[in-house]
Amino acid sequence: MERIPIIIDTDPGVDDFFCLALCCAFKDLFDLRAVTTIGGNNSTDVTTQNALDILKLFKRAEVPVARGAGRYLCGSFGLPVIKAHGINGIGNVYLEHSDTKIDRLKAWDKIHREAIKSNGKLVLVCVGPETNLAMAFSKYPQLPSFIRRIVIMGGTLTTGNATEYAEANIWHDAEAAKIVFESGVPIDMIGLNVTRKAPLTKTIFEDIECDPKIKDVIMELISFRHEEAMHDAVAMATLINENIMTFKDAHTSVIEGKDEKRGMTVADYDQIPNSRVAVDINVEEYYKVMREMLRRLAEI
Ligand code: RIB
Ligand code: CA
Repeated sequence: MERIPIIIDTDPGVDDFFCLALCCAFKDLFDLRAVTTIGGNNSTDVTTQNALDILKLFKRAEVPVARGAGRYLCGSFGLPVIKAHGINGIGNVYLEHSDTKIDRLKAWDKIHREAIKSNGKLVLVCVGPETNLAMAFSKYPQLPSFIRRIVIMGGTLTTGNATEYAEANIWHDAEAAKIVFESGVPIDMIGLNVTRKAPLTKTIFEDIECDPKIKDVIMELISFRHEEAMHDAVAMATLINENIMTFKDAHTSVIEGKDEKRGMTVADYDQIPNSRVAVDINVEEYYKVMREMLRRLAEI
C-alpha cells in the first residue's frame, strides 16, 4: 500500500509528543515529509528544538524540521503554558538533545514545496495554532489544490479550554484558522468535544514492554497531565483507524475579533460543507491504536 505523504504542523507540547510518536510508530502508513513548528505552548525556538529532540528519541532524525512563525498573524505569543506543558514544553521531562540542523526553508515554504512534490496527495496534520498554514495559503494562492486533506486538532462543538467558547489552537490565532477553514481544502476538525472523551491513562500501557528510554518518558508525560486526554494524538489516530471517529459534514466558521466569542467554531449542518466535524469517538478503538503504538516503538 502506498504510504500517505504527511506533514505535521505542531507546537510540542506534551500531547504533540504523542501525535509525533504515533506517526513515527506507524511508519509503514505515513511518509513523514516534514515537521513544521509554531509557538503556542512555548516559544517557536523551544517548540522547534522539542520537535528535533522528539524525532531523535524515535530514531527519525532524518525528518526535516522547518521552523514556523514567531508570532500569530495579529499578535504576539503569550507566556509559555507551563501548567499544561511544563517549563520546557514537554512536561519538564528531559529528552536527549538533538544536534540536527533546522531545515533551511521556513514552514510555509516547506509545506508548499512538499505539496507540489506530492501531486495533490499531501495530508497536513495541524495540531497547533494555524498560523503557518494561513501564511502558506496567503503566499501561495494555488496551494489548496495540492493538498488532499487537513486534519486539525482544534475547535470545539461544546465548551472550550482557552475560554468558555473557544479551544486554544483556534483562539490563539482565530484569523489564521478562518483562512484555513475558508481555503477550500477538505478539513477534518477534531475538537475538544471528542478528544476530552479519551483520557490517556498509564494502565493502557502498563503490560507492554518497551525500551525504558521511551516508555519512561511516555509514563512521565501521562502523569504530568494527570491522565487527561492527549488531544493531538486523537487527531493523528483518526488517520490510522478510520473507525475511531464519527464525522458529520458541516460548514464550519470561525469567530474572529476580540469579544468573548473569539475563536468559537460554529458548525452549520445545513450549508454547503467545508469540513467534517468529529461528533463522536470510539474510545476503545483509540486505545487499541495507542497500545499498538507502544508495541511498535519497542521495535524501532
Ligand atoms: O487545546 C488543545 C491544543 O492546545 C493542543 O494542540 C495542545 O497541544 C495545545 O496546543
Ligand atoms: Ca499542540
